[in-house]
Amino acid sequence: MSPPDRRWMSPARWHCPQATPLAPATCTWSLTLWMSSGMLTAPTTSPAAPSSSLKLRAAPLDALRLRSLSAQPLNARSRAMRIGHISDLHILAISDVRPWEYLNKRMIGGLNLLLNRSKAHSSVVVERALEALDSLDVDHIVISGDLTNLALDSEFAAAAEIIRSIESASTRVSVVPGNHDYYTPGAAREGRFERHFKDFLKSDLPEYQLKRGYPFCHIRQDVAFVGLNSGLATPWLFATGKVAEDELEQAARMLDDERLKSRFKVVVVHHPLMADEHHRFSFNRRLLNADEVLTTLRQKNVDLVLHGHNHYLSVLQVPKLGEPGTTFVCEAGSTSMEGGDPVMAGKFNIYTIEDGALAEIETHLFESHESGFRPFRSEVFRQQVEEQAG
Ligand SMILES: [Fe+2]
Repeated sequence: MSPPDRRWMSPARWHCPQATPLAPATCTWSLTLWMSSGMLTAPTTSPAAPSSSLKLRAAPLDALRLRSLSAQPLNARSRAMRIGHISDLHILAISDVRPWEYLNKRMIGGLNLLLNRSKAHSSVVVERALEALDSLDVDHIVISGDLTNLALDSEFAAAAEIIRSIESASTRVSVVPGNHDYYTPGAAREGRFERHFKDFLKSDLPEYQLKRGYPFCHIRQDVAFVGLNSGLATPWLFATGKVAEDELEQAARMLDDERLKSRFKVVVVHHPLMADEHHRFSFNRRLLNADEVLTTLRQKNVDLVLHGHNHYLSVLQVPKLGEPGTTFVCEAGSTSMEGGDPVMAGKFNIYTIEDGALAEIETHLFESHESGFRPFRSEVFRQQVEEQAG
């Protein structure tokens, strides 16, 4: 494997999200890890560290005591689950679009498409990613939104065809919409995404699901996937999102359910919940209620949040608020990008959940149409959380 491109590597670094716009006031510290290799030797506290003084450090693989201090330890002998994460596919299919369908926000989107996106994203790359995931022993696949560009029926149909090609897709895929899937008020009102992907929105806990289809829950072994919708039809030049208030309340109730409490909890939502060093929360593309959503998920001890939208690989960590432990907030990047370097190339992640904890994050990178995807950042990523003495 050739050495990673240093341009987009930086050491693990701590920063206080209180200094960033819209970061949750209760968030005490976070760690940003950008394509770092074995750099998880972070300082133990930040200036705003919680009074319980959690200590986070790297641990040798043979000395792990993962989840040993968890309030809800899972079955220690449960087998590992591998979760594939793809996102921001931006499938292009505009051949049968009538001209008047562009007489709205799509005029700008269509122009952007012609100038940039049609060259940057490729459905063939998505197919290569799914082939790779198939060969990498992945149990479940998460898709964190923006399957389309302009929320056209033809794009949804093409995306759905690709997703349905996954073996046992109806039980192995959890997919949520992004802002591009709600591109126009018409697409949002009509529930176009929900119509094309209704098979995937069936919930194992339907009593918490609102009429619109969210939040939904897929329980697979010791892992629960909770899908949230942050898609919003926005004015021109805006790509903001919001998780509806009633949907967030239902999600909070669902996460309190005994059937979820003892499981590893994964939440899937399109928009990022926090600013990071590469992407501040731009006014016109942020999650409008990010503070509320992140605080709720931390209070309910969510283990892993998977999102998209920035097209950038990132791993952020914040302490849970209801028990000792970490809520990971991760983005894999856009899977469909053809680009020629690690920043612009398509990516997907694989998360290994073992003994009820996140044990590893692998990132795979699109290299070429000939060779497909290759492992790019595949180091073991484990850590332990323990009470700090004194
Ligand atoms: Fe997006």
